[in-house]
Amino acid sequence: MHELLRRGDKYVDAEEAYLITKDMKDRKEPESNKRKTRDESEPLDNKGKQKINHLRQITDEEAQQLVNGLSWSFYDSSCPQLKSIVRNRLQNVFQDDIGQAAGLLRLHFHDCFVQGCDGSVLLDGSASGPGEQAAPPNLSLRAQAFRIINDLRRRVHERCGRVVSCADITAIAARDAVFLSGGPDFDVPLGRKDGLNFATINETLANLPPPTSNTSALLTALAAKNFDATDVVALSGGHTIGLGHCPSFTNRLYPTQDPTMDKTFANNLKAVCPVANSTNTTVLDIRSPNTFDNKYYVDLLNRQGLFTSDQDLYTDGRTRSIVTSFAINQTLFYEKFVIAMIKMSQLSVLTGTQGEIRANCSVRNSDNLSLSSIVEEEKGSWSAF
Ligand code: HEM
Repeated sequence: MHELLRRGDKYVDAEEAYLITKDMKDRKEPESNKRKTRDESEPLDNKGKQKINHLRQITDEEAQQLVNGLSWSFYDSSCPQLKSIVRNRLQNVFQDDIGQAAGLLRLHFHDCFVQGCDGSVLLDGSASGPGEQAAPPNLSLRAQAFRIINDLRRRVHERCGRVVSCADITAIAARDAVFLSGGPDFDVPLGRKDGLNFATINETLANLPPPTSNTSALLTALAAKNFDATDVVALSGGHTIGLGHCPSFTNRLYPTQDPTMDKTFANNLKAVCPVANSTNTTVLDIRSPNTFDNKYYVDLLNRQGLFTSDQDLYTDGRTRSIVTSFAINQTLFYEKFVIAMIKMSQLSVLTGTQGEIRANCSVRNSDNLSLSSIVEEEKGSWSAF
């Protein structure tokens, strides 16, 4: 049993008190937390360097587990500028609106969980029916995220020709979203092809757990995709950035308040969402909503997680100690998050002769009426180099 201490208007155990105090100190830490995005040209301090090197080592170990057809160096000769085109562009995008980082990270997750990381979520509906985008969990994906991916695709294809898939661009953009909002840097395996079909609305619903899920439901749903409890807790840490709409969490406020929710937090949420189906939004991580750090886990320790699926990770005995370990140790969270992301980014990928490389991420090539002119355009700009 932890010693109970009084903090303000509530009791917390000694460990939580330490974390809350530490959090307040962290908040005083001036520039590193205030900076919206990280400047790549900026020299990293020793601590930063060690962190990145450490993560690179883990990534190398993970290399042995790459699925067939993916590699760390896939575009090194066909599009050596790929990573810098994406990173430089996103740095500008996030300088204007850091919220777009969250949109891109979630887009990759929704791509990978439904039919694998094949860019199928990017496809508009077609004559064969509504696309994945029409499924309820995808209605709150940011419209701008789709535009950013297509803009990156255009920039990359202009330089290199139509050699890089939309699924790979989405994976790189998600990686950069994490890094440029203050999180770890890591390599992503590349070589995905774009899918020819999208999933049905029912398949989409079946593969994306709702925010009302408890930990048992999450562990079962993610075990089916080969994720263990540590992966589940680490991936949920994606909620350290971004926003949620009222209907995603008002099940915890109305008609009765979830007893596991901090009372002041609940009252604040009720002010944001006066009715259950309000269209308002609030931040997922109240401590540092735009920074990719471990504060999401500190929120959970303080019963300030937004969704049932978040807070129950701290209530459930199978995941509680993992939550605590990430709340105490950000480096550990980063390590486990990178491992889980690399795993997620390889779910049911299409490689080699499977699939295609779309000329427009929203439309499969066979439906792309202007494909021949796009290809001509690409050839023209390619030969200019
Ligand atoms: C494990 C089960 C998960 C559930 C139940 C879940 C659920 C949700 C829900 C309901 C929202 C808010 C939607 C809205 O109301 O607008 C959301 C937002 C978000 N999720 Fe998840 N999520 C899960 C996993 C993940 C994973 C694995 C990642 C990435 C690694 C992720 C990253 C995000 C981000 C960044 C946002 C904010 C998006 C934005 O601001 O546009 N989530 N999630």
